[in-house]
Amino acid sequence: MNHRDDFPIFKNRPELIYFDNGATAQRPQSVLDAEQKFYTTYNSNIHRGPNFLAEEATIAYEDARRKVADFLGAHHKHEIIFTRNATEAINLVARTFGETLQAQDVILLSKLEHHSNIVPWLQLAERKDLEIKYMGLSTDWRVRFDPALFDERVKLVAITGMSNVLGTITDLKPIIKAAHAVGAKVLVDAAQLAVHEPINVHDLDADFLVVTGHKIYGPTGIGVLYGKEGLLNSMPPFLGGGDMISAVFADRFIPAALPSKYEAGTPNIAGAIGLGAAIDYMTKLGFKNIQKSEHELGTYLLKQLQSLSFVKIVGPETMDHRGSVVSFTVDGVHPHDVADGLSSKGICIRAGFHCAQPLMDHLKLSGTARMSLNFYNTKEEIDKGISTLEEIYKYFNK
Ligand code: ALA
Repeated sequence: MNHRDDFPIFKNRPELIYFDNGATAQRPQSVLDAEQKFYTTYNSNIHRGPNFLAEEATIAYEDARRKVADFLGAHHKHEIIFTRNATEAINLVARTFGETLQAQDVILLSKLEHHSNIVPWLQLAERKDLEIKYMGLSTDWRVRFDPALFDERVKLVAITGMSNVLGTITDLKPIIKAAHAVGAKVLVDAAQLAVHEPINVHDLDADFLVVTGHKIYGPTGIGVLYGKEGLLNSMPPFLGGGDMISAVFADRFIPAALPSKYEAGTPNIAGAIGLGAAIDYMTKLGFKNIQKSEHELGTYLLKQLQSLSFVKIVGPETMDHRGSVVSFTVDGVHPHDVADGLSSKGICIRAGFHCAQPLMDHLKLSGTARMSLNFYNTKEEIDKGISTLEEIYKYFNK
């Protein structure tokens, strides 16, 4: 599948080799056009002014919410809350649902979590005297489902759908089932998963699920919290301000109905509309095609990396239960030097601990180099990456 021409950055920078899609994807022209069209033809605030322009903007914003709901398989569009990013969506749950937890309750995480799905829970644990426990890694580098960790003290399981470091995809259903059996709720961090795999919150039976726009070809500054209607209704509001109220008195307020209850202040209207366009774009390409292409590219990258005796892949060596995000180390070369060497040849990767220090500690690594591919990458780009890795290794091991 070759849709590179949909992405203006590849025309503007023909030499660019972009293997840092796990950090942020590139944007197709249709997303840029949707944002531009909002600002240039119907820019207005939403849900407020009774005028035709505000009405147009409101319809487009709410239409984007409908697209997100369909994309995630949510039953109701009011179960979709727009946030700034996945991080803010997790913090929203920590500051609302989290406040209902009691001392000694347990939050169960995994060793594969991004800091965004660790730090808000550590902060909450400190405020509420909770205990944080971790699921470990299985032999195939995925979250290890350990039924013994699930008891009635566990009130929330917050778990990644796909590791941003190892690329492995979590077998979510048994974990969600075990959590529900002890009365716990489950939050799925789908920030990495959503660009590589179709998601259906209803089928998963996830209580909360978070996504960020910029990793699924949408704008930065827009993210999504999905929450089950009953839960979102039962939780207190998050931020206070305009639009999240139905009435305000001198001494009290009545929160608005969903979804406005959790969307205080003027939101990122253009961002939401751009995200809707990104979803349209992905839907048009089709997940089957996206996955076929990424599976081929991932298989090729893993094979080429394995052919280098000085490279160790950190994670599975086949594409089983994983996406096209590949971490590795190079003998005798610090991951930042690997990234610098590749960057000097126009190749962008990420290096370091990838906002996952507990995972790095668990693996006894100070960092990795990471190539994360999306469907628009090519085998020729991978070949260039591999030959540059050979040069870097030789330079540092003279
Ligand atoms: N979470 C993003 C990454 O893994 C930024 O690179």
